[in-house]
Amino acid sequence: MSVESLVTRITDQLVRLSQVTHADVATAVELVTDLLGSAGQRPLAAGPAWDSDVSDDHTPVEFSLAFDPAGPPVLRILGEAAVTDPASPADLTPALAFLRRQAARHAVSMSRLERVRDLFTTDRPQGTFGMWHSLILRTTPEFKVYLNPEIHGVARSVPLVQEGLGRLGAGAAYRAVCEQALRPGEIGRGDRLTFFALDLRDTDTARIKLYVSQHDAEPADLARAAAVVPGADPAEVVAFCESAAGFAGPYDRRPIISSYTFVAQAARPVGYSVYVPIRSYVADDRQAYDRVHTLLGRYGFDTDRLEAAVAAVTSRPLEDGVGLVAHVSLRIGPPSPGVSIYLSSEAYGVGVARRRIPAH
Ligand code: TRP
Repeated sequence: MSVESLVTRITDQLVRLSQVTHADVATAVELVTDLLGSAGQRPLAAGPAWDSDVSDDHTPVEFSLAFDPAGPPVLRILGEAAVTDPASPADLTPALAFLRRQAARHAVSMSRLERVRDLFTTDRPQGTFGMWHSLILRTTPEFKVYLNPEIHGVARSVPLVQEGLGRLGAGAAYRAVCEQALRPGEIGRGDRLTFFALDLRDTDTARIKLYVSQHDAEPADLARAAAVVPGADPAEVVAFCESAAGFAGPYDRRPIISSYTFVAQAARPVGYSVYVPIRSYVADDRQAYDRVHTLLGRYGFDTDRLEAAVAAVTSRPLEDGVGLVAHVSLRIGPPSPGVSIYLSSEAYGVGVARRRIPAH
Protein backbone atom coordinates (compact mmCIF):
# COMPACT_ATOMS: atom_id res chain seq x y z
CA MET A 1 0.00 0.00 0.00
CA SER A 2 1.30 3.44 -0.83
CA VAL A 3 1.84 5.89 2.01
CA GLU A 4 0.04 9.20 1.70
CA SER A 5 2.51 12.04 1.27
CA LEU A 6 1.93 15.78 1.43
CA VAL A 7 2.00 16.03 -2.33
CA THR A 8 -0.45 13.18 -2.89
CA ARG A 9 -2.90 14.80 -0.50
CA ILE A 10 -2.58 18.21 -2.16
CA THR A 11 -2.86 16.59 -5.59
CA ASP A 12 -6.14 14.90 -4.66
CA GLN A 13 -7.50 18.22 -3.46
CA LEU A 14 -6.31 19.99 -6.61
CA VAL A 15 -7.88 17.41 -8.90
CA ARG A 16 -11.24 18.05 -7.29
CA LEU A 17 -10.79 21.80 -6.99
CA SER A 18 -9.97 22.10 -10.67
CA GLN A 19 -13.38 20.71 -11.49
CA VAL A 20 -14.94 23.61 -9.60
CA THR A 21 -12.68 26.25 -11.09
CA HIS A 22 -11.61 24.87 -14.49
CA ALA A 23 -7.96 25.31 -13.56
CA ASP A 24 -5.52 23.19 -15.53
CA VAL A 25 -4.85 20.42 -13.07
CA ALA A 26 -1.67 19.11 -14.68
CA THR A 27 -0.02 22.52 -14.41
CA ALA A 28 -1.26 22.99 -10.86
CA VAL A 29 0.16 19.68 -9.72
CA GLU A 30 3.44 20.25 -11.48
CA LEU A 31 3.89 23.64 -9.84
CA VAL A 32 3.05 22.44 -6.35
CA THR A 33 5.27 19.40 -6.69
CA ASP A 34 8.18 21.59 -7.72
CA LEU A 35 7.48 24.15 -4.99
CA LEU A 36 7.30 21.62 -2.18
CA GLY A 37 10.33 19.66 -3.30
CA SER A 38 11.46 17.06 -0.79
CA ALA A 39 8.89 18.25 1.76
CA GLY A 40 6.17 17.12 -0.61
CA GLN A 41 7.47 13.56 -0.61
CA ARG A 42 7.39 13.21 3.16
CA PRO A 43 4.70 10.89 4.48
CA LEU A 44 1.93 12.92 6.11
CA ALA A 45 2.35 10.92 9.27
CA ALA A 46 5.87 12.33 9.65
CA GLY A 47 4.36 15.78 10.24
CA PRO A 48 5.42 19.07 8.72
CA ALA A 49 9.08 19.49 7.75
CA TRP A 50 9.05 23.05 9.15
CA ASP A 51 6.55 25.27 10.92
CA SER A 52 5.20 27.05 7.87
CA ASP A 53 3.05 30.04 8.76
CA VAL A 54 1.01 29.68 5.58
CA SER A 55 -1.59 27.82 7.60
CA ASP A 56 -2.36 27.03 11.20
CA ASP A 57 -1.43 23.34 11.00
CA HIS A 58 1.80 24.27 9.15
CA THR A 59 0.74 22.85 5.80
CA PRO A 60 2.86 25.03 3.48
CA VAL A 61 -0.03 25.40 1.01
CA GLU A 62 -3.41 27.15 1.19
CA PHE A 63 -6.06 27.23 -1.52
CA SER A 64 -8.21 30.18 -2.43
CA LEU A 65 -11.01 30.85 -4.84
CA ALA A 66 -11.48 34.32 -6.25
CA PHE A 67 -15.11 34.53 -7.26
CA ASP A 68 -15.62 36.15 -10.61
CA PRO A 69 -18.85 37.64 -11.95
CA ALA A 70 -17.94 36.51 -15.46
CA GLY A 71 -17.27 32.80 -14.97
CA PRO A 72 -15.99 30.12 -12.67
CA PRO A 73 -13.87 31.21 -9.72
CA VAL A 74 -10.12 31.45 -10.20
CA LEU A 75 -8.14 28.93 -8.15
CA ARG A 76 -5.01 30.17 -6.46
CA ILE A 77 -2.45 28.43 -4.31
CA LEU A 78 -0.50 30.23 -1.64
CA GLY A 79 2.61 28.20 -1.01
CA GLU A 80 6.01 28.23 0.58
CA ALA A 81 8.99 26.60 -1.11
CA ALA A 82 10.56 23.81 0.89
CA VAL A 83 12.60 25.37 3.65
CA THR A 84 16.05 23.81 3.65
CA ASP A 85 17.07 24.91 7.15
CA PRO A 86 14.18 25.00 9.63
CA ALA A 87 16.30 27.23 11.86
CA SER A 88 16.24 29.88 9.12
CA PRO A 89 12.76 29.80 7.55
CA ALA A 90 13.12 33.30 6.08
CA ASP A 91 16.07 32.39 3.84
CA LEU A 92 15.06 33.31 0.25
CA THR A 93 17.23 30.77 -1.55
CA PRO A 94 14.72 27.95 -2.12
CA ALA A 95 11.97 30.40 -3.11
CA LEU A 96 14.18 32.12 -5.68
CA ALA A 97 15.33 28.80 -7.07
CA PHE A 98 11.68 27.84 -7.62
CA LEU A 99 11.06 31.08 -9.52
CA ARG A 100 14.09 30.60 -11.73
CA ARG A 101 12.96 27.10 -12.65
CA GLN A 102 9.47 28.36 -13.47
CA ALA A 103 10.77 31.34 -15.44
CA ALA A 104 12.24 28.86 -17.88
CA ARG A 105 8.76 27.47 -18.63
CA HIS A 106 6.22 30.16 -17.96
CA ALA A 107 5.88 33.89 -18.40
CA VAL A 108 7.58 35.10 -15.23
CA SER A 109 9.05 38.58 -15.18
CA MET A 110 11.66 39.05 -12.51
CA SER A 111 12.42 42.68 -13.35
CA ARG A 112 10.49 44.42 -10.57
CA LEU A 113 11.52 41.82 -8.03
CA GLU A 114 15.15 42.41 -8.98
CA ARG A 115 14.72 46.13 -8.33
CA VAL A 116 13.86 45.56 -4.68
CA ARG A 117 15.37 42.19 -3.87
CA ASP A 118 18.45 43.54 -2.10
CA LEU A 119 16.17 45.22 0.45
CA PHE A 120 14.89 41.82 1.54
CA THR A 121 18.23 40.05 1.47
CA THR A 122 20.14 39.44 4.66
CA ASP A 123 22.37 36.82 6.26
CA ARG A 124 20.22 36.91 9.36
CA PRO A 125 16.62 36.89 8.22
CA GLN A 126 14.04 37.44 10.95
CA GLY A 127 10.42 36.42 11.13
CA THR A 128 8.55 33.36 10.07
CA PHE A 129 9.07 33.56 6.32
CA GLY A 130 11.12 35.18 3.60
CA MET A 131 9.10 34.69 0.45
CA TRP A 132 5.80 33.03 -0.35
CA HIS A 133 4.31 32.37 -3.75
CA SER A 134 0.86 32.76 -5.16
CA LEU A 135 0.20 30.49 -8.09
CA ILE A 136 -2.78 31.88 -9.94
CA LEU A 137 -4.25 29.13 -12.05
CA ARG A 138 -5.78 30.86 -15.03
CA THR A 139 -5.47 29.42 -18.53
CA THR A 140 -1.77 30.00 -18.20
CA PRO A 141 -0.42 30.27 -14.67
CA GLU A 142 0.48 33.64 -13.22
CA PHE A 143 2.91 34.15 -10.37
CA LYS A 144 2.98 36.54 -7.50
CA VAL A 145 5.47 36.76 -4.64
CA TYR A 146 5.00 37.91 -1.08
CA LEU A 147 8.07 39.32 0.63
CA ASN A 148 8.42 39.89 4.35
CA PRO A 149 8.81 43.60 5.25
CA GLU A 150 9.89 42.54 8.74
CA ILE A 151 12.80 40.44 7.52
CA HIS A 152 15.27 42.83 9.24
CA GLY A 153 13.01 43.08 12.28
CA VAL A 154 9.74 44.89 12.89
CA ALA A 155 11.45 48.22 13.52
CA ARG A 156 12.99 48.29 10.05
CA SER A 157 9.77 47.48 8.21
CA VAL A 158 8.58 51.05 7.70
CA PRO A 159 11.73 52.43 6.02
CA LEU A 160 12.11 49.20 4.06
CA VAL A 161 8.64 49.46 2.54
CA GLN A 162 9.10 53.16 1.88
CA GLU A 163 12.30 52.48 -0.04
CA GLY A 164 10.81 49.51 -1.94
CA LEU A 165 7.65 51.31 -2.99
CA GLY A 166 9.67 54.42 -3.81
CA ARG A 167 11.90 52.47 -6.18
CA LEU A 168 8.82 51.10 -7.93
CA GLY A 169 7.26 54.53 -8.40
CA ALA A 170 4.69 54.22 -5.63
CA GLY A 171 6.29 56.50 -3.04
CA ALA A 172 3.62 59.18 -3.21
CA ALA A 173 0.76 56.71 -2.95
CA TYR A 174 2.45 55.04 0.02
CA ARG A 175 2.73 58.39 1.75
CA ALA A 176 -0.99 58.90 1.21
CA VAL A 177 -1.64 55.53 2.87
CA CYS A 178 0.58 56.36 5.85
CA GLU A 179 -0.85 59.82 6.34
CA GLN A 180 -4.50 59.23 5.59
CA ALA A 181 -5.33 55.55 5.95
CA LEU A 182 -3.30 54.01 8.77
CA ARG A 183 -3.60 54.92 12.41
CA PRO A 184 -1.43 57.82 13.49
CA GLY A 185 1.52 56.55 15.52
CA GLU A 186 0.62 52.92 14.84
CA ILE A 187 2.50 52.20 11.61
CA GLY A 188 4.80 49.29 12.35
CA ARG A 189 3.01 48.83 15.73
CA GLY A 190 -0.76 48.22 15.75
CA ASP A 191 -0.68 48.49 11.96
CA ARG A 192 1.99 45.96 11.04
CA LEU A 193 3.40 45.85 7.52
CA THR A 194 2.93 42.15 6.81
CA PHE A 195 3.45 41.46 3.10
CA PHE A 196 5.04 43.31 0.20
CA ALA A 197 3.70 41.58 -2.90
CA LEU A 198 4.54 41.77 -6.57
CA ASP A 199 2.88 40.36 -9.66
CA LEU A 200 5.63 38.78 -11.72
CA ARG A 201 4.42 39.87 -15.09
CA ASP A 202 5.45 42.62 -17.38
CA THR A 203 2.24 44.30 -18.29
CA ASP A 204 0.66 47.61 -17.39
CA THR A 205 -1.66 45.80 -15.04
CA ALA A 206 1.10 44.18 -12.94
CA ARG A 207 0.40 45.08 -9.36
CA ILE A 208 2.42 46.02 -6.33
CA LYS A 209 0.59 45.29 -3.09
CA LEU A 210 1.13 46.13 0.54
CA TYR A 211 -0.73 44.23 3.25
CA VAL A 212 -1.24 45.83 6.64
CA SER A 213 -2.40 43.81 9.67
CA GLN A 214 -4.58 46.04 11.80
CA HIS A 215 -4.54 44.80 15.35
CA ASP A 216 -7.59 45.57 17.49
CA ALA A 217 -9.24 47.51 14.67
CA GLU A 218 -12.48 49.36 15.33
CA PRO A 219 -14.97 49.95 12.51
CA ALA A 220 -13.80 53.56 12.23
CA ASP A 221 -10.22 52.34 11.67
CA LEU A 222 -11.38 50.09 8.85
CA ALA A 223 -13.41 52.88 7.28
CA ARG A 224 -10.38 55.14 7.38
CA ALA A 225 -8.18 52.41 5.92
CA ALA A 226 -10.47 52.08 2.90
CA ALA A 227 -11.34 55.73 2.35
CA VAL A 228 -7.95 56.65 0.87
CA VAL A 229 -8.60 54.51 -2.22
CA PRO A 230 -10.64 56.17 -4.98
CA GLY A 231 -13.81 54.19 -5.61
CA ALA A 232 -13.68 52.25 -2.32
CA ASP A 233 -16.74 52.60 -0.12
CA PRO A 234 -15.74 52.63 3.57
CA ALA A 235 -19.24 51.66 4.72
CA GLU A 236 -19.12 48.58 2.52
CA VAL A 237 -15.86 47.46 4.11
CA VAL A 238 -17.23 47.95 7.61
CA ALA A 239 -20.39 46.00 6.77
CA PHE A 240 -18.40 43.17 5.20
CA CYS A 241 -16.19 42.76 8.27
CA GLU A 242 -19.20 42.81 10.55
CA SER A 243 -20.95 40.09 8.53
CA ALA A 244 -17.83 37.95 8.31
CA ALA A 245 -16.80 38.28 11.96
CA GLY A 246 -20.35 38.24 13.30
CA PHE A 247 -20.03 41.42 15.35
CA ALA A 248 -19.06 45.05 14.97
CA GLY A 249 -15.61 44.93 16.52
CA PRO A 250 -13.21 45.83 17.89
CA TYR A 251 -11.55 42.87 16.17
CA ASP A 252 -9.18 41.76 18.89
CA ARG A 253 -8.41 38.21 17.85
CA ARG A 254 -6.37 37.66 14.67
CA PRO A 255 -6.08 41.02 12.94
CA ILE A 256 -8.13 42.17 10.01
CA ILE A 257 -5.78 42.84 7.10
CA SER A 258 -6.04 45.69 4.60
CA SER A 259 -4.23 45.52 1.29
CA TYR A 260 -3.40 48.38 -1.04
CA THR A 261 -2.67 47.95 -4.70
CA PHE A 262 -0.22 50.35 -6.32
CA VAL A 263 0.77 51.05 -9.87
CA ALA A 264 3.77 53.19 -10.78
CA GLN A 265 3.27 56.95 -10.76
CA ALA A 266 -0.28 57.01 -9.35
CA ALA A 267 -0.76 59.48 -6.50
CA ARG A 268 -3.00 57.10 -4.60
CA PRO A 269 -3.44 53.35 -4.37
CA VAL A 270 -5.62 52.01 -7.17
CA GLY A 271 -7.18 49.12 -5.28
CA TYR A 272 -8.17 48.01 -1.82
CA SER A 273 -9.05 44.65 -0.29
CA VAL A 274 -9.93 43.61 3.22
CA TYR A 275 -9.22 40.13 4.62
CA VAL A 276 -11.09 38.78 7.61
CA PRO A 277 -9.43 35.81 9.39
CA ILE A 278 -12.86 34.34 9.87
CA ARG A 279 -11.52 31.26 11.65
CA SER A 280 -10.76 33.38 14.70
CA TYR A 281 -14.32 34.70 14.84
CA VAL A 282 -16.38 31.51 14.61
CA ALA A 283 -16.94 28.47 16.75
CA ASP A 284 -16.61 25.99 13.89
CA ASP A 285 -16.49 25.70 10.13
CA ARG A 286 -20.24 25.31 9.79
CA GLN A 287 -20.61 28.81 11.13
CA ALA A 288 -17.82 30.08 8.87
CA TYR A 289 -19.41 28.37 5.87
CA ASP A 290 -22.80 29.87 6.58
CA ARG A 291 -21.34 33.33 6.83
CA VAL A 292 -19.31 33.15 3.64
CA HIS A 293 -22.29 31.62 1.88
CA THR A 294 -24.37 34.65 2.85
CA LEU A 295 -21.64 37.04 1.72
CA LEU A 296 -21.20 35.34 -1.64
CA GLY A 297 -24.96 35.42 -2.18
CA ARG A 298 -25.11 39.08 -1.28
CA TYR A 299 -22.55 39.86 -3.97
CA GLY A 300 -24.34 37.71 -6.53
CA PHE A 301 -21.80 34.89 -6.73
CA ASP A 302 -22.61 31.24 -7.36
CA THR A 303 -22.79 29.63 -3.93
CA ASP A 304 -22.93 26.13 -5.45
CA ARG A 305 -19.26 26.59 -6.23
CA LEU A 306 -18.54 27.21 -2.58
CA GLU A 307 -20.20 23.98 -1.61
CA ALA A 308 -18.29 22.09 -4.29
CA ALA A 309 -14.98 23.69 -3.32
CA VAL A 310 -15.38 22.76 0.33
CA ALA A 311 -16.29 19.19 -0.66
CA ALA A 312 -13.18 19.11 -2.86
CA VAL A 313 -10.94 19.85 0.09
CA THR A 314 -12.51 17.83 2.89
CA SER A 315 -15.17 15.29 3.63
CA ARG A 316 -15.21 15.87 7.38
CA PRO A 317 -18.35 17.33 8.96
CA LEU A 318 -17.94 21.11 9.15
CA GLU A 319 -19.02 21.15 12.79
CA ASP A 320 -16.03 18.97 13.68
CA GLY A 321 -13.35 21.60 13.44
CA VAL A 322 -12.43 25.18 12.78
CA GLY A 323 -9.97 26.72 10.34
CA LEU A 324 -10.93 25.04 7.07
CA VAL A 325 -12.33 28.40 6.00
CA ALA A 326 -9.34 30.47 7.04
CA HIS A 327 -10.09 33.90 5.57
CA VAL A 328 -12.67 35.66 3.48
CA SER A 329 -11.79 38.78 1.57
CA LEU A 330 -13.51 41.56 -0.30
CA ARG A 331 -11.89 43.39 -3.19
CA ILE A 332 -13.62 46.66 -3.68
CA GLY A 333 -13.69 49.38 -6.22
CA PRO A 334 -13.82 49.32 -9.99
CA PRO A 335 -14.38 47.34 -12.16
CA SER A 336 -16.48 45.24 -9.78
CA PRO A 337 -16.28 43.93 -6.26
CA GLY A 338 -14.99 40.44 -5.72
CA VAL A 339 -15.09 37.98 -2.84
CA SER A 340 -12.37 35.39 -2.23
CA ILE A 341 -12.51 32.40 0.07
CA TYR A 342 -9.36 30.82 1.54
CA LEU A 343 -9.46 27.10 2.29
CA SER A 344 -6.93 25.16 4.36
CA SER A 345 -5.65 21.85 3.15
CA GLU A 346 -5.66 20.52 6.73
CA ALA A 347 -2.97 18.08 5.68
CA TYR A 348 -1.50 17.94 9.16
CA GLY A 349 -4.42 18.64 11.41
CA VAL A 350 -7.78 20.22 12.06
CA GLY A 351 -8.35 23.06 14.52
CA VAL A 352 -10.49 22.16 17.51
CA ALA A 353 -14.01 23.58 17.31
CA ARG A 354 -14.97 26.05 20.03
CA ARG A 355 -18.22 26.10 21.89
CA ARG A 356 -20.84 28.20 20.15
CA ILE A 357 -21.49 31.52 21.78
CA PRO A 358 -25.21 32.27 21.90
CA ALA A 359 -26.18 35.25 19.72
CA HIS A 360 -26.54 38.49 21.62
N1 TRP B 1 -1.50 32.08 7.89
C1 TRP B 1 -1.19 33.47 7.91
C2 TRP B 1 -2.34 34.26 8.51
O1 TRP B 1 -3.38 33.75 8.73
C3 TRP B 1 -0.87 34.03 6.52
C4 TRP B 1 -1.96 33.93 5.50
C5 TRP B 1 -2.26 32.83 4.80
C6 TRP B 1 -2.84 34.96 5.09
N2 TRP B 1 -3.29 33.10 3.92
C7 TRP B 1 -3.67 34.39 4.09
C8 TRP B 1 -3.05 36.28 5.45
C9 TRP B 1 -4.70 35.11 3.47
C10 TRP B 1 -4.06 37.00 4.83
C11 TRP B 1 -4.88 36.43 3.84
O2 TRP B 1 -2.19 35.44 8.79
